[in-house]
Amino acid sequence: MTEQTSSDRVIIFDTTLRDGEQSPGATLNAEEKLTIARQLARLGVDVIEAGFPYSSRGDFEAVQQIANLVGTPSGPIICGLARASEKDIKAAAEALKPAAKSRIHTFIATSDIHLEYKLKKTRKEVLQIAGEMVAYAKSFVDDVEFSPEDAGRSDPEFLYEVLERAIANGATTVNIPDTVGYTTPAEFGALIKGIKENVPNIDRAIISVHGHDDLGLAVANFLEAVKNGARQLECTINGIGERAGNASLEELVMALHVRRQYFNPFLGRPVDSTASLTNIDTRQIYKTSRLVSSLTGMLVQPNKAIVGANAFAHESGIHQDGVLKNKLTYEIMDAQSIGLTDNLITLGKLSGRNAFRTRLLELGIDLSENDLNKAFLRFKDVADKKKEITDRDLEAIVNDEIKQS
Ligand code: KIV
Ligand code: ZN
Repeated sequence: MTEQTSSDRVIIFDTTLRDGEQSPGATLNAEEKLTIARQLARLGVDVIEAGFPYSSRGDFEAVQQIANLVGTPSGPIICGLARASEKDIKAAAEALKPAAKSRIHTFIATSDIHLEYKLKKTRKEVLQIAGEMVAYAKSFVDDVEFSPEDAGRSDPEFLYEVLERAIANGATTVNIPDTVGYTTPAEFGALIKGIKENVPNIDRAIISVHGHDDLGLAVANFLEAVKNGARQLECTINGIGERAGNASLEELVMALHVRRQYFNPFLGRPVDSTASLTNIDTRQIYKTSRLVSSLTGMLVQPNKAIVGANAFAHESGIHQDGVLKNKLTYEIMDAQSIGLTDNLITLGKLSGRNAFRTRLLELGIDLSENDLNKAFLRFKDVADKKKEITDRDLEAIVNDEIKQS
């Protein structure tokens, strides 16, 4: 992976293992987290937020293990979350020690509603804590990210002041969270523009965005933010996360990829440049989506953009006819660009358990022996009735046989 500080690329910060794991029911053990982190590194994310080390012994150890095994010099930056408190920051620094490149991400809320009811602190106190805790994090690592939680509902003038203080104390990334998914794209874009224009020394830091999907606007908000100067996007695989989830990595990356000529000028590039806007290997997207879904147990809705089972399916006769004549009639991207390779190995009734297992692994589906046996029996049943078994059939078999049992 190349170091990403230049402003004509968009840094992809994956928080599947931290904010994504905050989805109800999506708890992952350390081994599962490591498996996902390895796949995120293959996908090419620039930063992996591996967890919140102070929150539990298990999370501490998972972050430490990822820092050790995935945080290689050529691998991604490994990041740990910490509230703006010394004990949190110390735990994050300790867990991240084995990583070749590490980042501490510290945060404190800035909206009046959070100050009054959650923190019970004044703006003056929050300003002071933000500065002191960024400086404290900086005493452990060079790469410090600061987030004013609930920025989307904070007074912009106060936000500018807090960000200025964080940068003065060494923050190299300032992340703007729409914590409750409240803003609209025009508002969020204007917020980023205001930050760029009003925060002294903002050019010393990368502007990042983080957002939740309560109104289904997270991805649209981020794209507007990129147009206004944001250069890091915090997102999760399949958009998993608190409540309605986080902005979805695959949607953001493919929007920037498919529409790169539209976005090029906002990043100071020639309109017709075909160079990629991110470091992501898009052909790893589908596999990563499957892996996260199978390990978290969170199913992907069939009509989910990019990775849903129907995302590249054409049902109506008119559409099928058009696609057979020329794919571009109804397809804006190639299924292969996200790694979908239906029928590369044709599975049929003569295929063995090993071929079956290998194909599932290629699709990012890693089953226990017991589940594999159940799924294989079902596969044989289906293969008796159907000549060729496609990747979609395999997913249906796994979903029917394993997830519903
Ligand atoms: O949603 C949020 O505000 C967060 C912060 C910790 C960045 O997850
Ligand atoms: Zn969040």
